Amino acid sequence: MKALLKISVFSLAVICGFAGYTTYGLPLIVPEAPPVEEKLGGDLTMEQFIAVGDKIYNGKGTCPLCHNPVGGRAPLLEGVAGISMERIADERYAGKATDIEGYIRESLIDTSAFVVEGFGKKGTNDTVSPMPDVSKGAIGLSEVELNAVIAYLQDIGGVEVTVPLPTGDEGGVGGEEEAGGEIKLAETAAEAFGKFGCTACHMAPGIEDGGDIGPDLGALAELAGSRKEGMDARAYVIESIMDPNAFVVQDYDADMMPVPEDYDVQMTLAEMNLIVDAMLGKE
Ligand code: HEC
Ligand code: HEC
Repeated sequence: MKALLKISVFSLAVICGFAGYTTYGLPLIVPEAPPVEEKLGGDLTMEQFIAVGDKIYNGKGTCPLCHNPVGGRAPLLEGVAGISMERIADERYAGKATDIEGYIRESLIDTSAFVVEGFGKKGTNDTVSPMPDVSKGAIGLSEVELNAVIAYLQDIGGVEVTVPLPTGDEGGVGGEEEAGGEIKLAETAAEAFGKFGCTACHMAPGIEDGGDIGPDLGALAELAGSRKEGMDARAYVIESIMDPNAFVVQDYDADMMPVPEDYDVQMTLAEMNLIVDAMLGKE
């Protein structure tokens, strides 16, 4: 994944007040050309629609925050199209899908219809999925965006792409982008939590429908100062974002929280400050 938190080693060392952070070796970010906005008219080819799906998957959808080879947070999806019919035939399958497209669509919105073995919420014996409904909440993909992601997963899975092409009446995609094609900067903490997918896993201050894969970030105003001996609240919270495994919260697993390289959208220092202030109750 190409994009990284847009925080230079230098500015991190400054905000944190000590040079230890330089050892994380966060690469300096060279600003990229703004992405071209997808205009979804009725004239897209399937190949272009698949490319839109790829972009949504890696961007607005925040899918690789969980579905990636490193963290083991969720199963890899390269082959999901190829095994969808087996999923449907599984005795644990509780959904209504009858074909590959239907299975993938259901996996995105009715995520507990089938829970991949070993990936269910703790204590539910793989009956409840920790994956959020990606058509709602912070991720909020539209119907066309869901179709584009399904087309992408069918394509990389090597099966026939069966989703309908957009007709042009459904509205656009890529709600994170402004007209000029620039990624919109978050202006409030709630926007920032949503933009970076934090609330797919966390409850957070000002957010009503967060996830529960990670601890409630609303508790940090109380807890952050005492998490690590000798580390103040602000430094702890920043470290938790930049180097999550430096301290793993009790009763949670390491490698679940994404590392900076996992985020597709660059985080500016201003956005980092919004998030950190909100977690410390300083909004
Ligand atoms: C917060 C973490 C998280 C996010 C974000 C997430 N997923 Fe998932 N996903 C999971 C977990 C965990 C599972 C396995 C449990 C289950 O079967 O529901 C899963 C299962 C799936 C499955 C079924 C896999 C199979 O082998 O049957 C599909 C398809 C899927 N996700 C697609 C996506 C797509 C596409 C996105 C982005 C739009 C996404 N997920 C975002 C955690 C996540
Ligand atoms: C894929 C799920 C996931 C996503 C996405 C995620 N986190 Fe986490 N986070 C976790 C888990 C699980 C833990 C607990 C394990 C640990 O300490 O590493 C955690 C721990 C934390 C902690 C320490 C909490 C404490 O009580 O000490 C902070 C702070 C935090 N996350 C902030 C964030 C922020 C900010 C974002 C978005 C930029 C984010 N997380 C995105 C899963 C996630």
